[in-house]
Amino acid sequence: MVGATGFLGTEICRRIAEKGMPLRALVRESADPARVEALRELGAELVTGDLRDRASLDRACAGAGIVFSTATSIIREGEISAVDEAGQLNLVDAAREARVERFVYISFEELGTGAPLEHAKRAVEERLRASDISYTILRAGLFHETWLSAATGFDAANGTVNMYGSGEAELSWIALADVATAAVNSLDLPETEDAVVHVAGERLSYRDVIAAFEEVTGRSLAVQQVPAEALAAQRDASSDEREQSFAGLMLGVAAGSPPGDGEEWLRRLGVVRAVTVRDVASRA
Ligand SMILES: NC(=O)c1ccc[n+]([C@@H]2O[C@H](COP(=O)([O-])OP(=O)(O)OC[C@H]3O[C@@H](n4cnc5c(N)ncnc54)[C@H](OP(=O)(O)O)[C@@H]3O)[C@@H](O)[C@H]2O)c1
Repeated sequence: MVGATGFLGTEICRRIAEKGMPLRALVRESADPARVEALRELGAELVTGDLRDRASLDRACAGAGIVFSTATSIIREGEISAVDEAGQLNLVDAAREARVERFVYISFEELGTGAPLEHAKRAVEERLRASDISYTILRAGLFHETWLSAATGFDAANGTVNMYGSGEAELSWIALADVATAAVNSLDLPETEDAVVHVAGERLSYRDVIAAFEEVTGRSLAVQQVPAEALAAQRDASSDEREQSFAGLMLGVAAGSPPGDGEEWLRRLGVVRAVTVRDVASRA
């Protein structure tokens, strides 16, 4: 498991351990000790390494049956080309040379962000498709935990939210826990082999989401509209990959995500009742 100390990776590791499968986690020397300790408590074998260090990936993949990768550098170092792209490509190569049976890669829907992070995701997907490893590319919708949080401008606790673009475009929403369940259960569903699998809970526009929060909490939200043109200008003016990626992602959110069979896949992958935006609002 690469990305084991992250939000999604931790959830996936918990489910792997619950299934009684052996678990090996690549952890960085700089990782949060509490998160590393939690992995140890799950019984994970820990291998120190980094996506930028190919030898460490060879050590991590040696003898492994399945590789899950959720890793991303967007939150911490923001080294998108070196980690999300070159590093993940290194991991695919290491997994192929170690003859792993399956590579489960966490990606996101085509948002047309024009940003380095989306470029990286597509490059890794392409490398997997071209390789002879059996793979599952899981393209997940927007995580509630990211996009309904103050970090992305959705600060319901303080009554203010940013709305990207007109807020009318539909988006696919999903909870981290449901992505984790789908990722682990994909190993048991033959149709996920060598496939791009879309996973999504509900389709709602930002305006729908805001209305749901207002109705459930009984409090109105002050909405700050961020025009798509401003986001495009921010992306194009920046020379920093993380800033370009965040602005690009927000631009993608403004444009909406493609409709698809994400809800159907989620059910087939064992998520009988997906967490809804109303569930999130009722906990807010
Ligand atoms: N947020 C969304 O709406 C959304 C939607 C669809 C897909 N996704 C994808 O979901 C995945 C998981 O997201 P998340 O929220 O779990 O991310 P996260 O909490 O930021 O976790 C990132 C993980 O990657 C690891 N990492 C960072 N740089 C690394 C490097 N150089 N070498 C090895 N590991 C490295 C981190 O390790 P440390 O703990 O050491 O930093 C951490 O374990 C990402 O790939 C993201 O693109 C997200």
